[in-house]
Amino acid sequence: MATDQTSVRPVTKAVVTVAGLGTRFLPATKATPKEMLPIVDKPAIQYVVEEAVAAGLDDVLLVTGRNKNAIENHFDRNWELEAALEAKGDLERLKRVRESAVIADLHYTRQGDPRGLGHAVLCAARHVGQEPFAVLLGDDLIDERDPLLTTMLDVQARHGGSVVALMQVPRDQINLYGCAAIEGEPDDLGAVTIVDLVEKPPVADAPSNLAIIGRYVLDPGVFDVLRETDPGRGGEIQLTDALRRMAVSGEHGPVHGVVFTGRRYDTGDRLEYLKTVVRLAAERADLGPDFSTWLKGYVTEELGR
Ligand code: G1P
Repeated sequence: MATDQTSVRPVTKAVVTVAGLGTRFLPATKATPKEMLPIVDKPAIQYVVEEAVAAGLDDVLLVTGRNKNAIENHFDRNWELEAALEAKGDLERLKRVRESAVIADLHYTRQGDPRGLGHAVLCAARHVGQEPFAVLLGDDLIDERDPLLTTMLDVQARHGGSVVALMQVPRDQINLYGCAAIEGEPDDLGAVTIVDLVEKPPVADAPSNLAIIGRYVLDPGVFDVLRETDPGRGGEIQLTDALRRMAVSGEHGPVHGVVFTGRRYDTGDRLEYLKTVVRLAAERADLGPDFSTWLKGYVTEELGR
């Protein structure tokens, strides 16, 4: 059960971090934020905001940085465009254009210095206040058919404290992620107790092949811990380091993990981004049939040659 120190108020707020530079996608991301790159015909960031809303969190704070104005414009009205579509009678597109402006109660704050994920989360402290809250990393997409965040909220409601999404990865890739050491068997919600965490360990030293993926439900006590967290890996203030202290000491409640076995797409990586676009396009009711027919022909006739 939740301890006295732990906040068990229902979660209503989501924090989405989008302050990264997007260097892997240059030059496309020179003037456009990487989160605005389209996955078929919707920017990646819209999927993430929709995921928060689908889990019941419609107060969404985006922690942005310089060069991210396009994100704010995307989630705002565009009167000129709406008037033009209305005049043409293109009501279908009009609906889609309006959708992103009313999707959630969106707020913005800027992370002035790029001092790491922990620092980005700390920028949300004033907005979040004393409630537990969710954190979604803008690069990680979770398929809407696999409701990970909802499960994590259920785990937080049951146990209090904080909850981290985990996924098994090939052992030789664990150095790209935060890594968790767990104890005991999963309960009926799939929750396991986390006893240790380490940010991007060398493969040989990793305590497991369980990687942190970009979804968290955090006790607000994390802010106090982050304020006292020294820069870690890469000289940045790491969220993983703050959570490690909470997991080891038990302050601010337990830290649980939910091991995700569904579909996750890493849109921050070019190859993974391409796979995501192909997969989601092929599965779309409108584009999928034509695209899949072409794709099969391309693979067998042109690539197979
Ligand atoms: C961040 C976190 C890391 C986590 C990863 C998931 O790293 O620091 O613990 O495993 O996101 O995508 P980044 O990929 O931003 O370097």
